[in-house]
Amino acid sequence: MKTIIEPFRIKSVEPIRMTTRDERKTLIKDAHFNLFGLQSDDVLIDLLTDSGTGAMSAKQWSAVMSGDESYAGSPSFYRFQAAVKNLMPFKHVIPTHQGRAAEAILFSMFGGTGKNIPNNTHFDTTRGNIEASGAEGHDLVIAEGLDPSNLHPFKGNMDLARLEAYLQEHGDTVPCVMITITNNAGGGQPVSLENIRATAALARKFGKPFFIDGCRFAENAWFIKQREEGQSSRSITDIVRDCFAVADGMTMSAKKDAFGNIGGWLALNDDDLAEQARNHLIRTEGFPTYGGLAGRDLEALAQGLTEIVDEDYLRYRIRTNTYIVDKLDALGVPVVKPAGGHAVFIDARAWLPHIPPLQYPGQALAVALYELGGIRGCEIGTVMFGAHPDGTETPAAMDLVRLAIPRRTYTQSHADYLVEVFEEFVEHKDSLTGFQITRQPDLMRHFTCQFERL
Ligand code: F0G
Repeated sequence: MKTIIEPFRIKSVEPIRMTTRDERKTLIKDAHFNLFGLQSDDVLIDLLTDSGTGAMSAKQWSAVMSGDESYAGSPSFYRFQAAVKNLMPFKHVIPTHQGRAAEAILFSMFGGTGKNIPNNTHFDTTRGNIEASGAEGHDLVIAEGLDPSNLHPFKGNMDLARLEAYLQEHGDTVPCVMITITNNAGGGQPVSLENIRATAALARKFGKPFFIDGCRFAENAWFIKQREEGQSSRSITDIVRDCFAVADGMTMSAKKDAFGNIGGWLALNDDDLAEQARNHLIRTEGFPTYGGLAGRDLEALAQGLTEIVDEDYLRYRIRTNTYIVDKLDALGVPVVKPAGGHAVFIDARAWLPHIPPLQYPGQALAVALYELGGIRGCEIGTVMFGAHPDGTETPAAMDLVRLAIPRRTYTQSHADYLVEVFEEFVEHKDSLTGFQITRQPDLMRHFTCQFERL
């Protein structure tokens, strides 16, 4: 059979409140054209993020009921820890309420004024935590990763030559090397096992600890299995283990590839660092056997980690994206190709060339998709990355709109509706105008800034 079906049945449903185009035009204007300002009831298909928005399985919900809420030493923690260690064999697993809390702890130890931290591409919260500590983050993804139509199979790879030059140039100011799998900000593109190993080897050569931001580790492993030589007959679990075996630690948002609605962790091998991290955790998150989570959350994550490596699930998951990308591509919409793991990325700068980057073509497209079809996506471009700590603004490397697909939540007809919205949009796109920002905070402005239509 050609059709790859959703490998699940639906036991519990949530109604979607229908809205009209006119209603949506008022609603988004009232939200100052910031999609984060909308009430989610006013959204038909919410593709703002794949983070914490997935559907839990019946087994996860039943695990919730066996959560043990003891303050210290809960068996739920030990089940969670065993599930993490089964995939990522780090010595210390420190639960946090979500990924950015793990980052905040990591950079409280590794950050600081004058420090430089490389990554293939830092996600915005990672960069935010680095900059808040006084350090600088740098993105060293391969050049193919910045070319939306380049069909390189591992567009998330670290540029090893640039990393080596970077480590030479910045020397002692580099506290650690990071890599993000998959490369979310660069289009959900995977990193090959070979590149992870080579990045780890370079870090080791320069005496730097190597950390993986592992949010979408299972999707990354699926791509490795499909695309990397010698990996096709290996299990996802074995590939995942290999990816993390070469790292000194990881940060994780369990809201992605652990099927959680909340959760995260920091994992480390170094005993002294782990002690420091746990002391920080006690001050900011909670005792080390719950770390800002309820016992029931830890149970749901432990079960989720056993489900995320299922190949039928991953095949369907990645196929959904490819299906949408192929259809949009056929319509002439410039999409990031090949399809990434968790989201469809549209190259708004290329599609709306009449809107200059500093008038935010990505924002213009994201607002229009909401007005036209009730679809909520997210600008990943100059709004998100264009503002610098010194107050200046420059165009980001790309102006993308991300339509992130929540896990196990929407069906094929939602995907078909999305494509129809684009079909209609093709007619109107040249009449769209850009935006200017009228209010913004100092850091991570995209969440709360306000816009005016030009
Ligand atoms: N790292 C990556 C690669 C991420 O994608 C995210 C979150 C985080 C770290 C932070 O994790 O949200 O649990 O604190 N990404 C979400 C997104 C928000 O929509 O891409 P968190």
